[in-house]
Amino acid sequence: MRQNPRGHALSAAAALLGFLAMAHAVSFEVNDQNSTCIKAELSVNFSITYPTANGTNTVIVPLPDSAAVGNGSSCGNSGLSPQLQVSFGEGHSLGLVFSSDGHIYQVANLSVTYNLSDNQTFPQSSSKDILTLATNTSGISAQINTTYRCLSSTSVHLGGPKVQSSVAFFNIRLEAYMPSSNLSTNESVCPADLPVSTIAPTQSPTTTPAPSPSQIPDQGYYNVTNLNGTVCLMASMGLQLSVTYFSKSQNKTLQGIMNLQPNRTSFSGSCESTTATLVLTEDLTNLSFTFELNSTTHRYHLSVLNLSASWLDMTVPVAVSNSTLNYLQATNGSSYMCKSEQILYVTNSFSLKTFGLQVQPFGVNGNKFGKAEECQQDKDSMLIPIIVGAALAGLVLIVLIAYLIGRKRSHAGYQTI
Ligand SMILES: *[C@@H]1O[C@H](CO)[C@@H](O)[C@H](O)[C@H]1NC(C)=O
Ligand SMILES: *[C@@H]1O[C@H](CO)[C@@H](O)[C@H](O)[C@H]1NC(C)=O
Ligand SMILES: *[C@@H]1O[C@H](CO)[C@@H](O)[C@H](O)[C@H]1NC(C)=O
Ligand SMILES: *[C@@H]1O[C@H](CO)[C@@H](O)[C@H](O)[C@H]1NC(C)=O
Ligand SMILES: *[C@@H]1O[C@H](CO)[C@@H](O)[C@H](O)[C@H]1NC(C)=O
Ligand SMILES: *[C@@H]1O[C@H](CO)[C@@H](O)[C@H](O)[C@H]1NC(C)=O
Ligand SMILES: *[C@@H]1O[C@H](CO)[C@@H](O)[C@H](O)[C@H]1NC(C)=O
Ligand SMILES: *[C@@H]1O[C@H](CO)[C@@H](O)[C@H](O)[C@H]1NC(C)=O
Ligand SMILES: *[C@@H]1O[C@H](CO)[C@@H](O)[C@H](O)[C@H]1NC(C)=O
Ligand SMILES: *[C@@H]1O[C@H](CO)[C@@H](O)[C@H](O)[C@H]1NC(C)=O
Repeated sequence: MRQNPRGHALSAAAALLGFLAMAHAVSFEVNDQNSTCIKAELSVNFSITYPTANGTNTVIVPLPDSAAVGNGSSCGNSGLSPQLQVSFGEGHSLGLVFSSDGHIYQVANLSVTYNLSDNQTFPQSSSKDILTLATNTSGISAQINTTYRCLSSTSVHLGGPKVQSSVAFFNIRLEAYMPSSNLSTNESVCPADLPVSTIAPTQSPTTTPAPSPSQIPDQGYYNVTNLNGTVCLMASMGLQLSVTYFSKSQNKTLQGIMNLQPNRTSFSGSCESTTATLVLTEDLTNLSFTFELNSTTHRYHLSVLNLSASWLDMTVPVAVSNSTLNYLQATNGSSYMCKSEQILYVTNSFSLKTFGLQVQPFGVNGNKFGKAEECQQDKDSMLIPIIVGAALAGLVLIVLIAYLIGRKRSHAGYQTI
């Protein structure tokens, strides 16, 4: 692969960021009498969306240096699984339960517990509950007798009835079922850390975002199901985010452009009678759309867009929201469609570009989009072929008439001879 100067600059920046991030890794060790069974060095950012009186709020909480091994940790003798429980703050915790088949070990259950009573961490929370969210798809697995290493950021989405969360890990080294008390020098490297040429070459928010990818984002298909298992919100779209933030590596304000990669994006949401929400999470980026239905006019619109991003190059995480939007309007039971590019201005520091958009947040029937109501840009672009077509038809008609007249004249000419 050819390396260009910008590539060098980027890898230097990535190395620098990796180094800065390294400082934040917190170490944990689980012992069983004389032997160590789990060791972990972790950097984690928790992004948590919780209910407030007004709606929802999203906070990004890094794992603090004061985090410690909790009582729930054990080496798991007598048939139990080894587990690491990390406690932090006012009763919050992160749990990793391991399992192994003798060749590979993995995190079989990843859980987080949040104490919503902690109003320093969760300002204005309308719930005071202690909530636990769990998943069995953490993506963390390694060969036995090796250390799992992942410097890149990988995020795991966890959803519950009240709280949505994504847990972004970066700069991790960990090992369970340890043969000795030191981390093995052999490493199982996560896919995201493999050389860039073998992985998606597109920019990722975990490194410095490219100033302006001209690439069109891939089309993603997202949906939300309600409690009885029926699809209640559907969306098909390509998304490009434009975020203004202060860059650590360049020491100045930048406009970061990021294409959402559907195959790395997890989605969730909720549907109620007059509001519906879609939450998309890719690594350290969390985007949520809230639609409102006006039950008098039977029309809906996109009223709220929320973005939280904690890209490594950001000096402070970005969290922006606008709840007075009036985009993507259509009638209940219909879908809103805009094949043309469309820019949704959200705030001075954030706008969202949509490509090939079709969305239906209410009245979805049988997993299919309802009748499409098209945006003005699409109607305008339809008009051009119609005008051109009409002009061509007119031209053909004129030529035909001219020909017929000409033929009649020459016919008349023969008769006079
Ligand atoms: C721990 O080490 C001590 C001293 O080396 C030894 O007497 C004891 O049996 C060990 N315990 C276990 C469970 O291996
Ligand atoms: C909504 O949020 C704003 C700003 O946080 C606050 O001033 C207002 O009191 C809230 N309204 C309600 C009904 O909680
Ligand atoms: C939850 O947070 C509240 C407020 O900070 C605190 O009083 C309480 O002890 C915490 N609960 C647990 C289980 O730590
Ligand atoms: C995963 O761990 C959490 C917290 O310990 C627990 O509540 C949940 O039941 C576990 N899930 C599975 C499938 O074991
Ligand atoms: C792992 O290491 C231990 C101790 O060195 C050894 O007994 C065991 O066979 C190894 N397991 C594998 C799968 O290599
Ligand atoms: C994600 O999609 C991109 C572009 O289509 C592709 O290059 C990449 O290999 C995909 N990654 C994964 C993990 O599937
Ligand atoms: C599922 O729930 C929605 C509202 O929550 C309701 O409108 C719909 O009829 C239900 N569908 C089935 C099959 O029960
Ligand atoms: C960033 O820029 C400011 C002003 O331009 C300067 O004072 C500061 O030293 C710079 N910081 C770094 C780390 O370069
Ligand atoms: C519904 O639309 C009507 C007419 O535009 C408006 O007067 C009313 O305030 C809207 N209702 C809600 C709940 O937004
Ligand atoms: C929210 O969006 C509206 C409509 O686009 C705009 O007028 C308003 O200035 C935005 N609010 C903020 C805080 O940018």
